[in-house]
Amino acid sequence: MRFDIITLFPAFFDSPLRAGVLGRAVEKELFHIAIHNLRDWADPPHFAVDDTPYGGGGGMVMKPEPIRRALDAVRQGSRHSRVLLMTPQGRAFRQEDAVALAQEKGLTFLCGRYEGVDERVRAWVDDEFSIGDFVLSGGEFAALAMVDAVARLIPGVLGNELSAGEDSFGDGLLEYPHFTRPAEFAGMRVPEVLLSGNHGEIARWRRRERLRRTLERRPDLLDRARLTAEERSFVAALQRQGDEEEGS
Ligand code: ADE
Repeated sequence: MRFDIITLFPAFFDSPLRAGVLGRAVEKELFHIAIHNLRDWADPPHFAVDDTPYGGGGGMVMKPEPIRRALDAVRQGSRHSRVLLMTPQGRAFRQEDAVALAQEKGLTFLCGRYEGVDERVRAWVDDEFSIGDFVLSGGEFAALAMVDAVARLIPGVLGNELSAGEDSFGDGLLEYPHFTRPAEFAGMRVPEVLLSGNHGEIARWRRRERLRRTLERRPDLLDRARLTAEERSFVAALQRQGDEEEGS
């Protein structure tokens, strides 16, 4: 897998790509990542990358020419790269997108700044993503979040291969609660089942806790999650219990 990032702020990516899981993966060459400075494709003498909007109004718009040249240059090195535009107007990035994107040969992230990009740029991208319903000062934050979410699905990037599958959203549910030693702290005890050594019971408890937590915090996820009939009735029972408690 190859990641190309087109940005006006290459330095933004320096330390995140040297630290932690991503840093180790870069060092081990489990994927290749190249950061491109958009200004390298701007025209002399001023190397402007933005301009005022036609029709007036505030803010600046990113010019199309440097972006077109940057995309052409990146394509030379990575012919099959999928081009992704980071913008709050994009579709919401979800774990299932990370899983699909992890299958690609290459991903090119185009990071917007200012009021956004000239509308014609949209003709040259394969997809547009938003990482949430809030406005960031630039697409760099979104690109970094997406690179992390995709990279950790590449075999070998996570030390423990099991951990990606059990993550929140791995199968559409939030994660179960985790505990470590000591078994009792500040008057709070670890659930007995986790100390029992009974792996079947522990697995059942964890699955139920994932359902309970998802219902409490993100009920919207349950509509899309893959649940057995038994799990659906467990959720329905929890819901009834919740409704009764609210009513009483
Ligand atoms: N650029 C600015 N805000 C953004 C967001 N929420 N997601 C993706 N790119 C952005």
